Amino acid sequence: MRQISVRLGDRGYLVMIGAGLLSGVGEAVRPLVGGGKAVLVTVPPVRELYLQSVLDSLADVGVQPLVVTVPDGEDAKTPRTYLDVVGRMLDAEAGRDALVISLGGGCVGDLAGFVASTYMRGVGLVHLPTTLLAQVDSSIGGKSALNHPRAKNLIGSFHQPELVIADTRVLRTLPPKEARCGLAEVLKYGAILDSELFGILEGKAEEALGLNEGILEEIVCRSIEIKARVVGADEMDRGGRMLLNFGHTVGHAIESATGYTGYSHGEAVAIGMVAEARIAAKLGMISDGEVERIVRLATRLGLPTRASGITADELIGLMHSDKKVRGGELRFALPDAIGSGVVVGVTDRGLINEALSGVLEY
Ligand SMILES: NC(=O)c1ccc[n+]([C@@H]2O[C@H](COP(=O)([O-])OP(=O)(O)OC[C@H]3O[C@@H](n4cnc5c(N)ncnc54)[C@H](O)[C@@H]3O)[C@@H](O)[C@H]2O)c1
Ligand SMILES: [Zn+2]
Repeated sequence: MRQISVRLGDRGYLVMIGAGLLSGVGEAVRPLVGGGKAVLVTVPPVRELYLQSVLDSLADVGVQPLVVTVPDGEDAKTPRTYLDVVGRMLDAEAGRDALVISLGGGCVGDLAGFVASTYMRGVGLVHLPTTLLAQVDSSIGGKSALNHPRAKNLIGSFHQPELVIADTRVLRTLPPKEARCGLAEVLKYGAILDSELFGILEGKAEEALGLNEGILEEIVCRSIEIKARVVGADEMDRGGRMLLNFGHTVGHAIESATGYTGYSHGEAVAIGMVAEARIAAKLGMISDGEVERIVRLATRLGLPTRASGITADELIGLMHSDKKVRGGELRFALPDAIGSGVVVGVTDRGLINEALSGVLEY
């Protein structure tokens, strides 16, 4: 078992990582429950696979949580689901000393985080992330969110968990598409912040894609270390944390242009990373050979590197309406080498258009 600290003063917390940890969560969670009500929020696929062992472990230490099952995927992140969970908590007479526990991927984690951050103005939160994406990314850093019918993640807050337990063994039941989605974020960490992680992926791409336990544990730990360090230095996303947007400025535009159905988030981010790497190359920050390394690794991880049915102008329009755009200038997190990056404002629309056109087929 590995432990990584997220250093945020009195809001700091531990991330525990290891194979088989879910069956022993009770001991770690017990002190956080205190005398309050534990509320475990999960989704049907994860409930079938892993709820019982978590409940058994909690029962061993005398904790019987209220279990709330919510719809799977993005349907977990609707205002209606949020109100349902709050209603169930009120029925169970959960008070200000309640502890919300999420068991599942990033969707249920984002919902549970928002519930914990708002229920009676804020209660405790523990994440038990079960997707690769949730383990390496969404469970750490305290961002919570609901979707508004008109925009994804529009309603949200910062609310740090008190503990995160990532059981790498549960990743073996992950559908291949979800594995690729998580690997896209790991590729992102490597490309923009950690050349060694990039090298590990290059050396073991097929094992990672095949959900080999040893290699997954290695890349999960390494990715969590990076996210923990970045969040510790910039909790509110005003500086260094923006580097984690590599691939996401273009990626979000691709998701939005295709109605969130054309490409999964990880796929859109992979195409976005290639597009943004091309912008960096056009700005003279990296070489064409480095762009090629990113393309090759993404391809080996089963991720697309080109999109079809979208125009560059459409994407640029969408990027301008992104909530992170300031003063009309598009800001990108761009690599200036494999494993290192900077946030840059780019005003040359022609350059962006050319870089994007290189990854688009209409
Ligand atoms: N808060 C943040 O900082 C942050 C960061 C990145 C992404 N996100 C959010 O995360 C969400 C995506 O999360 P996700 O990719 O984990 O998707 P998800 O939560 O929808 O999970 C993907 C699917 O895998 C299933 N699943 C989960 N664990 C499993 C397991 N071990 N075995 C088999 N099936 C399993 C789920 O039930 C679901 O069907 C998005 O809404 C995104 O906005 C948030
Ligand atoms: Zn992402």
